[in-house]
Amino acid sequence: MTPKGSCLEAVKIAIDAGYRHIDGAFVYFNEHEVGQGIREKIAEGKIKREDIFYCGKLWNTCHPPELVRPTLEKTLKILQLDYVDLYIIELPMAFKPGDALYPKDENGKFIYHKTDLCATWEAMEACKDAGLAKSLGVSNFNRRQLEMIMNKPGLKYKPVSNQVECHPYFTQPKLLEFCRQHDIVIVGYSPLGTSRDESWVNVSSPPLLKDPLLNAIGKKYNKTAAQVALRFNIQRGVVVIPKSFNPQRIRENFQIFDFSLTEKEMKEIEALNKNVRYVELLMEEEVKDLLFQKIFCPALNKTKFTSLEVSTEVKKKVYPAFKIKKTLDAGGISDSHLNTYILIPANEKLSSSRKIEHLIGTLHAGGILAKALTFNNST
Ligand SMILES: NC(=O)c1ccc[n+]([C@@H]2O[C@H](COP(=O)([O-])OP(=O)(O)OC[C@H]3O[C@@H](n4cnc5c(N)ncnc54)[C@H](OP(=O)(O)O)[C@@H]3O)[C@@H](O)[C@H]2O)c1
Repeated sequence: MTPKGSCLEAVKIAIDAGYRHIDGAFVYFNEHEVGQGIREKIAEGKIKREDIFYCGKLWNTCHPPELVRPTLEKTLKILQLDYVDLYIIELPMAFKPGDALYPKDENGKFIYHKTDLCATWEAMEACKDAGLAKSLGVSNFNRRQLEMIMNKPGLKYKPVSNQVECHPYFTQPKLLEFCRQHDIVIVGYSPLGTSRDESWVNVSSPPLLKDPLLNAIGKKYNKTAAQVALRFNIQRGVVVIPKSFNPQRIRENFQIFDFSLTEKEMKEIEALNKNVRYVELLMEEEVKDLLFQKIFCPALNKTKFTSLEVSTEVKKKVYPAFKIKKTLDAGGISDSHLNTYILIPANEKLSSSRKIEHLIGTLHAGGILAKALTFNNST
C-alpha cells in the first residue's frame, strides 16, 4: 500500500533501472498505478509486455472456485493488461466472501470461510488454460499445504513458486530444501527485513539492516547491508522482491549482480538465522489458538494461565505469543488493538515491567512460529 501516485513513479524508475519482475496484489490497492507504469514504459518503447514478469495474488475472500476467474479478470481490468505472468494464492486460509476484504464479527474476530484449497487450485488451473495467467503459484504455504496441492488427484499444473518471508534472520532452510527438491522456486518477501511498521510487523527482532556482519561484509565489497542481504538470497537461488519508493534505493537494490559472496561469507550469513518472522499474519491468531489447544495445552495444563496487558515497551522486547482463548483463565486485561498476548502463570503478580524468565516452548506448525514465555518478578 502506497501514497497515491508514488507507485506509478516507482514502477517507472524501477523499469528504467532494469527491474522486470513486479510483485503486486489486489489488496495493495495500487495495481492501477502499476499497470499504468508498465503501459507507459511499453508506449515509450523502453520495454515490451513480454519483458515484464507481473505477479498478481488471489485474496482470502476469493477462494471459492467460482470467484477465482472473476477475481483475476478484475485484476487484469485494473492493470489494463491481458494476462499476468504469475497468479498466486496469497494465503492458505480463506475469509468469508463478500465486499469486506477483512470481514470481522461483532467481537472483532476475523470471519473465516471453509475452503478447499484443492478446488481453489483447480479454478486457478482453469485461469492458466484460459490464458489469463502464464503460470501459477502460492504464498505463505508450508510443506503440508504444498503437498496437499501436489498430491491432488488429477493435478494439471503444480505450483511453480511459493512466496514466503525470507532473509538472513529467517532463512527458511527446511522449506527451501523441500522446494528445491520439488522444483518450486522460493520468492523471498520482506528480503530487507520489512519497513518495521508496528501495525503488522513484529519489531521484537532487531533491524536486519543494522546487522554488524552484513555491514562489515558490505564494507569489504563497497556495498550496503541491504545489497549484501539481497545478494545472499539470490546467490542461494531465492528470488528477492525488495520494496522501495525511494529512487536512490530502488537503484541501489538492483546493484547486486557485480559482486559475489564467498562460501564462508554465505555460511556466516546463514548462521544469522533467528527463526523468527517479522511479518505477523494477524489473521492467523485463531489458527494459532487451535494449534495452542492441540499442542501446548496438555503440557501447560498443570499451571493456570492468564493474560497480561503488555506495555508498548515490553512488546518491543519480547516476541508476542498467543492470543489466549477465553476458555483459559483469562484474568488479565486484553489488548484489543493488537490482539497479542503473552502467557504468564496465573499465580504470579501482574506487572508490565517483568522480564522474560524462560521460554516454555517453540511451536512450528502450520507455517507459524510462536513462542510462549514466562516472566519473573525481579523488576
Ligand atoms: N505474500 C505476502 O504475504 C507478502 C507479505 C509481505 C510483503 N510481500 C511482498 O514483498 C515486498 C517487500 O516486502 P516488505 O515491503 O515487507 O519489506 P522489504 O522489502 O524487506 O523492506 C522494505 C523497507 O525497506 C526500505 N528499503 C528499501 N531499500 C532499502 C535500502 N537499500 N536501504 C535501506 N532501506 C531500504 C524501504 O523504505 P523506502 O521505500 O523508503 O526505500 C521499506 O521501508 C512487498 O512490497 C510485497 O510485494 C508479500
